[in-house]
Order: sequence, then structure tokens, then C-alpha cells
Amino acid sequence: MLLAIETSCDDTCAAVVDGARILSNVISSQAAAHEGFGGVVPEVAARHHLELVAPVVEAALGEAGATLDDIEAIAVTAGPGLIGALLVGVSTAKGIAAARRLPLIPVDHLQGHVAANFLEPEPLEPQFLCLVASGGHTLLAGVRDHEGYELLGQTLDDAAGEAFDKSARLLGLGYPGGPAIQREAEQGDPEAFEMPVAMSRNPGLDFSFSGLKTALVYRCRELGPEGVAARRADLAASFQAAVVEQLATKLKRALKKGDWEAVALGGGVAANGPLREAVAELCEERGVRLKLVPISLCTDNAAMIGAAARHAPRIEYPDYLGYDAFASGETAGAAH
Ligand code: KG4
Ligand code: ZN
Repeated sequence: MLLAIETSCDDTCAAVVDGARILSNVISSQAAAHEGFGGVVPEVAARHHLELVAPVVEAALGEAGATLDDIEAIAVTAGPGLIGALLVGVSTAKGIAAARRLPLIPVDHLQGHVAANFLEPEPLEPQFLCLVASGGHTLLAGVRDHEGYELLGQTLDDAAGEAFDKSARLLGLGYPGGPAIQREAEQGDPEAFEMPVAMSRNPGLDFSFSGLKTALVYRCRELGPEGVAARRADLAASFQAAVVEQLATKLKRALKKGDWEAVALGGGVAANGPLREAVAELCEERGVRLKLVPISLCTDNAAMIGAAARHAPRIEYPDYLGYDAFASGETAGAAH
């Protein structure tokens, strides 16, 4: 049984997992604390994690009906993410592990999003193609084993979730932007405004979202504040359609290039309804199995960190006492 901790961004998360089984998965969202800023403020996030991490860990153990006596190792997100936020999780994990002389398992956050697919219900076994689209990252991962993935393509500028968040702010919608845009778009026409679908003629598997964001800035300028208010739903729907089209186009291209039998989605943007529908259609068309994890496992959570930790190297006590979080890059053994 593993205790996992995730504090890389603005959610304080702890979970207890036993193999592919989730015994508890507690998430304390700080979204309300950052809403007024239209994005995550790193200092605010770190201070909230500090207050929340101990009660969240206790809640995770309590909900699992477990005590630290049942825990064989402590897993923790070591990076990438906000360094102050990560340090809270890593220090907490090291503290608990050291007090109990337990091993520590540092986990790469992106490998965590991939590993969410290894969890129940219906665990997916490699090999599969995984699109990870979150607030900080957008990438296509070729998953051939449990330990890591091959990076097939990634964003050259903004992440898909970041584009949702920045565009929602521009449209006067709330934070986080993805769900706010999706809700607003339900009342809008996705073809009302022509938005650029970047990289569609580029033969590679990389993504780009900054041009789309700039296009939206220009549309908003042309419309003026009243025009934006009147056409908000159309703007949201057109923006969302362009993001979904780019993600689906690249996924389709990756499927054509490889011999993949299954597709999985991960990261917060994978909660997006129209994206799920577009990918489902694509998979049906190509006769490929589609694995959609529950939305609670798409957005940041600690169960996925526990899932990745099952297949990651353990560091025995006391060798991890000097171990540090990292803001960017990869842990050894994550991507390969
Ligand atoms: O994976 P995640 O919880 O945190 C990071 O690792 O970044 O992803 C958060 C991102 C945010 O940018 C949020 O706006 C986006 O996921 N998101 C969505 C939806 N729900 C969350 N984007 C589009 N549609 C959604 N329904
Ligand atoms: Zn994430």
C-alpha cells in the first residue's frame, strides 16, 4: 500500500493506493484562492499547500481506513511544476518517510498523468498512445511500458490548458478557464468566428496555441467590450473548436504513423466534453480502443502519482534526505 502526495500546482492532493486499486483520493482545490487573479499565483499556492497538506494526508489515510503502519512507501511528485509548491509536497513526503524509515518514490508529474490509465476501473496496459493536455503541458506520449514513454510531440509555446485559462480571462470568464469556456460554449456557434488551427500543415506532431490566443485578442479588440459581451458564447465555442481540432488532428496523425491499438487521454483538458467526443469519433473511425479515465483522474490528483510510483525506483532511507524537487525537466526513468 502506497501513500502518494501531489502538490505541483494549485491542488493539494493525497491518496492511498494498493496496486491498481484506489483506496482514497483526496483533492483540496485552491481554485477559489486564485480565481481573483485569473491564474495560479505561485507564492499563494505554496502557502496554501503548507496549510492543507497535513489535513489532506490525514484525510487520505482516514478514508482508506489505513494508518501509517499499513504504508510501505511514500510517493511524491518531484516535478515538473511550481518549485515552491513542489517543495511542500517533497518535504512532507520526506518527513513522513524518514520518521517511519520508509522508502521514498519521487514521481514525474507527467508520468503520473500517463499512469492514471493504469488504475481501476479497467486498467489499461501498455502499449498505447496517450495525449496529455494540462495547464502546464501538452504532449503526445508513446507508452510502450509502465516505466516511461517516448515523447512523440509537444507544444512549442503555450499548453492547451494555459490557452483555455488565458482566453477565459480575456473573455471575462472564470478560473479555471477550461470548464468556464466549455460551459459558455454550449450556448455558442463553433463556426461563428474563424480561428487558426495551428500546425495543421506542419507534418510533425508538435502543437502550438499562442497564435490562437493572439487571434482571440484581435477578435476581442475588433468587437470592443460590448461586442465581446454579446458574442461571448460564440467566441468561446469557436476558440474551443480550434483547440479540439488541433489536438484531434495531431492524434490522428500519430495514429497513422504508429501501430497503436489503444488511445488514452490525460491532463485537465482531457475533461473537455467536445475533445472527448472528437477523440471517440476518431478512435471509432480507426478501429482503435479508447480509454477515458474518470474526470477526477484527468485533473491533478495523487492516485495517479501512486500509480506511477508502482513502477518507479524507490530510494531507501536515509539516501533521500538530500533529495530535491525540480521545477522543469525530468526525473531519471520518467520519459525515455
Ligand atoms: O492537469 P491539470 O489539473 O493541472 C496541470 O497539471 O496543469 O490541468 C488543469 C488545466 C487547466 O488549464 C484547466 O483550465 C484545464 O486543465 N481544464 C479544462 C477542463 N477542465 C480543466 N480544459 C478544457 N475543458 C475542461 N472541461
Ligand atoms: Zn497535471
